[in-house]
Amino acid sequence: MRKHRICVLGGTGFIGRHLISRLARQGHRLRVLTRRRERHRELLVMPTLELVESNIHRVSELSARFKGCDAVINLVGALNDGPAGSESLEAVHAQLPGKVVEACQFNGIRRYLHMSALNADPEGPSQYLRTKGVGENQVHAAARDGMAVTSFRPSVVFGHDDSFFNRFAGLLALSPVLPLACPETRFAPVYVGDVADAIMLALDDRATYDQRYDLCGPHTYTLRELVAYTAKSMGAVRLVVGLGDGASRLQARAMEWVPGKPFTRDNYLSMQVDSVCRSDGLAALGIEPTSVDAVMPAHLQARSRAVWLNGLRTLAGRG
Ligand SMILES: NC(=O)c1ccc[n+]([C@@H]2O[C@H](COP(=O)([O-])OP(=O)(O)OC[C@H]3O[C@@H](n4cnc5c(N)ncnc54)[C@H](OP(=O)(O)O)[C@@H]3O)[C@@H](O)[C@H]2O)c1
Repeated sequence: MRKHRICVLGGTGFIGRHLISRLARQGHRLRVLTRRRERHRELLVMPTLELVESNIHRVSELSARFKGCDAVINLVGALNDGPAGSESLEAVHAQLPGKVVEACQFNGIRRYLHMSALNADPEGPSQYLRTKGVGENQVHAAARDGMAVTSFRPSVVFGHDDSFFNRFAGLLALSPVLPLACPETRFAPVYVGDVADAIMLALDDRATYDQRYDLCGPHTYTLRELVAYTAKSMGAVRLVVGLGDGASRLQARAMEWVPGKPFTRDNYLSMQVDSVCRSDGLAALGIEPTSVDAVMPAHLQARSRAVWLNGLRTLAGRG
């Protein structure tokens, strides 16, 4: 296997951490760009990893950071526009990929792997899906200029450190009743390790050049089923109340005012389309998909036990 020097954008996030630890284990040399190096110092235990603070939205800075790399992986993404003064979805999903391609071309880097999202489409129902679609199309247009581009389009991604199951587990721990927006939207959760493997396998495989891979897990669930599954795995008896369309929209409007924007009108719009695959990207790459059952129940049980023990410690005055 060829050892690469890879520049990774978004390598500090949920999917990124799984990917970079696998890449480092295979002996690739990694340069991970981040907005705040101090926040991710624990990554420096990986001996072949360089963590570099950068403003990746400036082409000149990207061009300087890519020097000496022979492949670039871009995992940067956000669910919503950031707070005032920070980058918008348009900047992060639609404009950044073009800048990354430009900086690759400046450095003569041909290999570029791009993280998009299932249902990304310039005509999609939400700003998230539209900006993802524009960025994805833009990087594939660069294939005409000799770039070897592969993009990945996962459904919701799960793992012990995800923000999907863990967020619902947190909400379910707070209250016996959970009002749930868009309860009938369907998802095919895909395991973070399988997503990381897909990117690793594609890296040196010429058959993946200029291809787009939809990535889904082996089973499809409604959101209501996933939340009920989370409660059951936690050993909690909870009432999940599915909201109708009007109430779902109202909930999104209200939750936009909650710090961290746990649910927004744009998220509601993204959920107007099912997050299920039309083609099987994992199978095309020869990856056997991991089920939710194989990973999440044990984690969710351990998580709720830890929350319970912490509660007891606090009650005993040792918290
Ligand atoms: N998780 C899922 O279920 C899922 C599903 C489909 C698609 N995706 C896509 O997969 C990618 C990775 O997802 P994830 O769950 O790992 O995300 P994540 O944990 O939120 O990580 C996002 C990464 O992007 C960087 N980032 C975010 N906003 C940025 C900004 N304004 N400027 C520069 N860097 C920024 C962060 O880097 P620093 O903070 O270090 O700068 C971080 O490393 C994203 O493109 C996402 O849209 C994820």
